[in-house]
Amino acid sequence: MVVLKSASELATMREAGRVVAQTLQAVSEAARPGATLLELDDLAREMLAEKGAKSSFLHYHPSFAPMPYPAVLCLSVNDAIVHGIPDKRRLEPGDLLSIDFGAHIDGYHGDSAVTIGIGEIDEAAQRLSDACRQALDAGIAAAVAGNHLGDISHAVQTVCRAARYGIPTGYGGHGVGTAMHEDPHLPNEGRPGRGLPLRPGLVLAIEPMVVESGSDRHRLQRDGWTVSTVDGSRAAHWEHTIAVTDDGPVILTAL
Ligand code: MF3
Ligand code: CO
Repeated sequence: MVVLKSASELATMREAGRVVAQTLQAVSEAARPGATLLELDDLAREMLAEKGAKSSFLHYHPSFAPMPYPAVLCLSVNDAIVHGIPDKRRLEPGDLLSIDFGAHIDGYHGDSAVTIGIGEIDEAAQRLSDACRQALDAGIAAAVAGNHLGDISHAVQTVCRAARYGIPTGYGGHGVGTAMHEDPHLPNEGRPGRGLPLRPGLVLAIEPMVVESGSDRHRLQRDGWTVSTVDGSRAAHWEHTIAVTDDGPVILTAL
């Protein structure tokens, strides 16, 4: 069931989204060579406490997972695409890190992700992240009342495929509201003019993922959460929670 949000609900979601953006900024600054993934998760936990928000991820237990999610951040390094679990690993110069974070205030969620380089990264890694971010921007630009869900999917896909990157099969964005994952599912590939008509009050997390080798394949690691490429090639992931409004798309997870 797709639930449209009122103006006052959108205002609360904007507050949650601001906390998500502030936390992503702080974690991005702390993500230097030598930092451990668990230190970054601790920093995000401190930010939640300071801002009076709650984690969307901690203890989240969808049917596909063998155990509840144990952290507040998803940290996916290099060949990890999404849902990497923070551990004692230390970041190294040249690593490509996806930082994904969700928080709720008064029960309303925000969900966003960035991909950053640790220290100096090679040009190919920068291109991969940039293309993914451009795919997100194209998806957001298509999130206009009167368009259809397929227009967003198609916009995302077009940027990723033009750069000859893989798009992990089956993964995509989702509705956001009083649950982090609501209807509709938003595929990262689709046909223009197809699917749900976009109406003011619809809130979506748009989250392109790209794979450097061009492969669309992925595999689940033994931890039951981390989704990785099958060929060791690197991945990038960007995400914003946005609202469709009469005045065009509004990014709820902006600073
Ligand atoms: N942005 C990710 C998603 O929508 C967040 C996953 S949270 C987790 O899939 F708790 F499931 F890890
Ligand atoms: Co999401």
